[in-house]
Amino acid sequence: MAKIFRGQIVHTRALNEFEVFTNGFVAIDTNGKIISCGSDTEYESWNKTQNINDFEIIYLTPDQFLMPGFVDCHIHAPQCAQIGLGLDMPLLEWLNTYTFPLEAKFADQEFARKVYNQVVKTTLRCGTTLASYFGTNHKDSTLILAKEALQLGQRALIGKVCSDCNIPDFYRETCEESIKATEAYISDFKSLKTKLVQPIITPRFAVSCDKDLLSGLGNIANKHDLHIQTHISESIAEIEFVHEIFSKSYAQVYDDAKLLTKKTVLAHAVHLEDDEIKLISSRGSSVAHCPASNTMLSSGLCDIFRLLNQGIKVGLGTDVSGGNSMSIQDAILRAMDVSHHLEFVKKQHIKGCENTKPSSSVEYKPLDYKQAIYLATLGGAQALALDHVTGNFVTGKEFDALLIDTSKYPLHNFDSYKTWNQDKSEEIKLLELVQKFIYVGDERNIVKVFVAGVQVKV
Ligand code: GUN
Ligand code: FE
Repeated sequence: MAKIFRGQIVHTRALNEFEVFTNGFVAIDTNGKIISCGSDTEYESWNKTQNINDFEIIYLTPDQFLMPGFVDCHIHAPQCAQIGLGLDMPLLEWLNTYTFPLEAKFADQEFARKVYNQVVKTTLRCGTTLASYFGTNHKDSTLILAKEALQLGQRALIGKVCSDCNIPDFYRETCEESIKATEAYISDFKSLKTKLVQPIITPRFAVSCDKDLLSGLGNIANKHDLHIQTHISESIAEIEFVHEIFSKSYAQVYDDAKLLTKKTVLAHAVHLEDDEIKLISSRGSSVAHCPASNTMLSSGLCDIFRLLNQGIKVGLGTDVSGGNSMSIQDAILRAMDVSHHLEFVKKQHIKGCENTKPSSSVEYKPLDYKQAIYLATLGGAQALALDHVTGNFVTGKEFDALLIDTSKYPLHNFDSYKTWNQDKSEEIKLLELVQKFIYVGDERNIVKVFVAGVQVKV
C-alpha cells in the first residue's frame, strides 16, 4: 500500500542547504518512490489532490524524525571479519600482515556466505541503505555478497577486486585471469535481474594493478558504462611506490587507463597535489572520505574543503577494516573531528615554537553537523553517481530512509533534556533532536530502515 509519513523530517539539498519540516510529510507510492514531501501547509494542498484512503498514514512521535539513509561510499566487506585488528600498523604493512591473508580465505564460498550475511545485516542495522563494497579477487564469492545484499534489501555497488602484482602469490591473479573474471562477473550479475545491486569495476589500487590490467578494466567500464572504484593517495609510502612504478602522478595513472569518469569514486585522496585535484574535478570523478581509516592507519588528515572547493563530489566511507567502525554515523563524527584537527593545525600556535606561527590569512571553518549529514546522505549518493535515485526526499527518488527515535537508550538524560527545552521553537527543538542523535546516539536509535520503501531493518 502507498504510505504517508507525518511528523518531523530532515534532509539536505546541498552542502549548505539543510531542510527541516517540523510537521511535515513524505508520501510514497506502492513502488517505494517518493511522490511528495514538504511542510504542513504543503500537505494540506497536496492531500486535496489525492484519495487519502489509498494511503496508510504513519504518525511519528514527537521524539522521532525521518532522515535519508546513510551512504557508505567505501567499505571492504571481507575485512569485516578482522575489524579492529592490526590498526597499530601503517597501510602497506597492515595489508601484508592481515588483509591479504584474510581476503585469500574468501576462495571458500561457505566462509564468504557467513561473513557477507553478517556484514549486510550489520551495515543495515547501522542505517546504511546504500554501500559501495569491495569484495575480494574471487568472482563467485563476490557474487555471493551481491546476492546477500539483494536478499536483505540493501542498495549496493559491489566490486570483484582486481590485483595482478605487488601482492603475495597466494592472492595474485594474472592480468588475463583478472580481466576474464571481471567480464564473467558482469555477465553473471545480469542474471540477478535487479537495479538494487549493481557491479562496480574495482582495480584495488595502482600498486597492485599493472598498466595492462588498469587499461583493460578502464575499457570494460567504458564499454558497459559501469561504476568504478579504487584507492588513491592514501599514504605517503604508497604514493612513492606508485611514482616509482609509473613515473607519473597517481591521478594521471588512472586517467591514462580511462578510469577517471563521472562514475568513479576514489577512496582517501589524502595527499593529492593541486594538478591531480584539477584533473579529477575535470573528469567529474568523486572522493570517498574515510576519516576513521586515515587516522587508524596513520595515513593523514584529508582536507575535504580543498576538494569540494574545486568541484569534486565527496561522500563518506567507513573503509572497514582500515576503519574500525561499520557505522556512517560514526564516520560523521570522525569527519568532524578530522576537520577540527585540521583547523588546529592550520591555526594553532604552540607558545615558543616558531614553526607553529599561524598565518593570519588562514580562513578555515571546520565541517559542521549539517554539512556532515549532507556528506553522509546526498553527498554520498552524488559521489556514487546515484543521486538521481537516492540521497534525499526529493519527488521521484526512492524512499531510502531512517526512522530515528531519540527517546531510546543510549541518549543519556533525554528525559531531563525534555524538561527544559519546552520554550524553544519547534525548528530549534528538531535541530536539537538531530544533534542528540548525531553526537550522542548510535544504531539503537535507528528503529526502522527503509530501502526503496521497504522496511529492511534486521
Ligand atoms: N589500499 C589497497 N588496498 C586497501 C585496503 O584494503 N584498505 C585500505 N584502507 N587501503 C587499501
Ligand atoms: Fe579501502
